[in-house]
Amino acid sequence: MTAALNPQLIERLLAAARDAQARAHAPYSHFPVGAAVLDESGRIHAGCNVENAAYPLGLCAEALAIATMVREGGKSVRAVLVLGDGEKLVTPCGGCRQRLREFAADAAPVLIADKKGVRAQFTLGALLPESFGPENLA
Ligand code: THU
Repeated sequence: MTAALNPQLIERLLAAARDAQARAHAPYSHFPVGAAVLDESGRIHAGCNVENAAYPLGLCAEALAIATMVREGGKSVRAVLVLGDGEKLVTPCGGCRQRLREFAADAAPVLIADKKGVRAQFTLGALLPESFGPENLA
């Protein structure tokens, strides 16, 4: 099931992602990212990237947002918003597309934003076609 993304909901996702971005720990890339996921109950869970001096251990904003949702009892991602700066769209990395795939349907909207607002909208299925997921192991 996908969420009807009304303007108020988009504003809430944006605000949560902005807030998270402001708390990013990105001293190495200087590229703070915020992400917000909407769960099946309408709750929003946010995350920021958390880098590490041992570079490969860094965590993406989406990974923290998903982990936060799971910690709070959320079962399903109905929509995602990723927020970052720069000229190019900050689309989720390949690993995070797969992380989202664990909890989201192909039709789930993935919004890409910067501080000014939403710049583009995709579906998870468009970003990760023909994917492998939990159903493969059922
Ligand atoms: N990053 C995210 O947190 N999410 C994305 O969708 C793209 C990249 C982070 C990882 C790293 O801390 C920094 O941005 C630069 O790659």
